[in-house]
Amino acid sequence: MELYLDSGNLEEIKEVAGSGVLNGVTTNPTLVLKGGMDFKTLIRSVVSVLKDAKIRGFTVSAEVTAEKAEDMVQQGLALSKIDSHVIVKVPITSEGVKAIAILAQKKVRTNATLCFSANQALLVAKAGAYIVSPFIGRLDDAGQSGVELIEEIREIYDTFGFKTKIIAASIRSTKDVKESALAGADIATVPLKIFKQLYVHPLTTLGLKKFNADWARYNELR
Ligand code: E4P
Repeated sequence: MELYLDSGNLEEIKEVAGSGVLNGVTTNPTLVLKGGMDFKTLIRSVVSVLKDAKIRGFTVSAEVTAEKAEDMVQQGLALSKIDSHVIVKVPITSEGVKAIAILAQKKVRTNATLCFSANQALLVAKAGAYIVSPFIGRLDDAGQSGVELIEEIREIYDTFGFKTKIIAASIRSTKDVKESALAGADIATVPLKIFKQLYVHPLTTLGLKKFNADWARYNELR
């Protein structure tokens, strides 16, 4: 499973770019607002940071904000021209699905965002989306199961041979990452806090402390 950082903060992205496990970045209008940079400058800078880190095949998702399909397509084409690694995030509405289909015909890769149902995921796969983003945390918040949604999408995509990648989004915990992997998500996009927690286990910390103490003792005795 690939790992993306869900962030609009360039410093955060620089922090994990060289981790050896990062495969891409997702942004959205809220994250861009929080990051405080000019949108296109941010996207250009993220692409350049990931290129410098020599990450192969990475993508950076940049979201359209228009509501009409033709305007989404125009925004999407402009975003896709920033760099070939940029993929266009499009919300799943009837206009959004239309835009995804038009962008697919023009060979522009899309990330269908704000997915909350298997039927939405079916529609965007039919339209030719490159990625679908089920928002699992927000579904859990609403009293439904985000991981179950990923399982359903996986089954539908495998049954019909859809190539659209499933990216587990709106991740709230390390458990969400594990369960998304087990449910067959192709990618998980995680905030920096959760990304850092993925490395940690108290027994690793404890075990290392003991190894280091014993190694120091070993050197004293020689
Ligand atoms: C995905 O691409 C979105 O940016 C993101 O995961 C949304 O997460 P949230 O529910 O924490 O805002």
